[in-house]
Amino acid sequence: MTCRICGEATSLLLDLGSMPPANRLKASRADTEQHYPLAVERCLSCFNLQLTYCVAEEELYSHYFYLTPDSPSLRAHYRFLTDHMFGEGYLSHDSFVFEIGSNVGRFLEHLKPLVGKVHGIDPAGNVCRMAVDNGIDTTCGFFNRETAAALERTHGAPDVIVARHCAAHNKDPHAIISGVAELLADDGYFLMENAYALNTLVNNEFDQIYHEHMFYYSIRSVVRLFALHGLRLIDVLQAPIHGGSIVFVAVKDGSKAAERPSVAVEAGREAAVLTEDLLKKFVDHVHVNRARLSDLINEILGRNQTIWAYGATAKGVTLMNYVGLDSRHISYCADSTPIKQGKYIPMANIEIRSEQDAFDAQPDYFLLTAWNYKEEVISKIRNSGNMTSRFILPIPTTQII
Ligand code: TYD
Repeated sequence: MTCRICGEATSLLLDLGSMPPANRLKASRADTEQHYPLAVERCLSCFNLQLTYCVAEEELYSHYFYLTPDSPSLRAHYRFLTDHMFGEGYLSHDSFVFEIGSNVGRFLEHLKPLVGKVHGIDPAGNVCRMAVDNGIDTTCGFFNRETAAALERTHGAPDVIVARHCAAHNKDPHAIISGVAELLADDGYFLMENAYALNTLVNNEFDQIYHEHMFYYSIRSVVRLFALHGLRLIDVLQAPIHGGSIVFVAVKDGSKAAERPSVAVEAGREAAVLTEDLLKKFVDHVHVNRARLSDLINEILGRNQTIWAYGATAKGVTLMNYVGLDSRHISYCADSTPIKQGKYIPMANIEIRSEQDAFDAQPDYFLLTAWNYKEEVISKIRNSGNMTSRFILPIPTTQII
């Protein structure tokens, strides 16, 4: 096994078994499921973590159920990003901003009134149609060197390219990054946001591991990846969104843009904390937490109490299936996304219902499978008049809150 970033040898870190793709919700309980190995390996040369087995992208993304929710915490995050980009001079009011993996266009919708022009690309046809209907110019397709060249001919070179939570979703990030190097204006900026491997490990977020997350990026692996395509890291930001994300800003090698102090600060912190020892602690903790959550759920069910999951998240699919929870343990899973409702969590076979159904049902416990939105979710449930349900927080460690 070799590192798909730097080519050095890798070794196995954690094997979660055979699992269905997390966003492949089922229309009925009886639908057939494909299961694929779900295991993470590590590269001790560039500290890249990657899946051992990558499901074909067409299978994962051609029809997609993940629609970026319209959430106050995401809107706040978009403001945080754009404030920083304007503040540092990465963005101006006449910039052309191009987004890779733009989904239904939420971030571009936020940017559109602030900049000159926006355009997105996304591989899922159903999602692109929603973006276009919403007034966001979107090309349907995978982003790579070829599509980059075609986009440059039709739209020109963007001043800013954004790739939020998508560079980990592809087995060959070199295809995306070489496309960026091809398309970006010579004095342009590339902003890439991902779940940060350091946070995933420190916060024991093993549920971030699913087939779409083929990479868990560190600063060291990203510096290596960018350098191979003539890009230079000049800024690093951390943000609490999605359980702890990292934002990398890069420029082309020829650009005069100065490196911000954040690069040395964050790289130094990472070198001190993201070590082989942390990897070992993470794996130990995953095994302990799996047993704790399973024991707690069985104890609650033993008292004849009911549990719903809240958030039909991809994370929740890994969490419930790895812990061995199914419709015998979890009555239903609530989710605000209309296209998820009425469908079933693969393998666990738990039916997804609306939030209103969850408010009406008032189960004894909610398992917070959307723990990254826990404040929003808990206040929504309390505001619905439900003052009695309790909440199981599964990550970083199982506890009732
Ligand atoms: P997200 O955290 O982006 O998860 P993942 O990347 O693991 O799939 O997804 C959040 C899910 O939670 C999404 O399906 C919408 C749902 N949700 C609610 O049902 N209610 C809410 O209040 C919020 C914020 C999200």
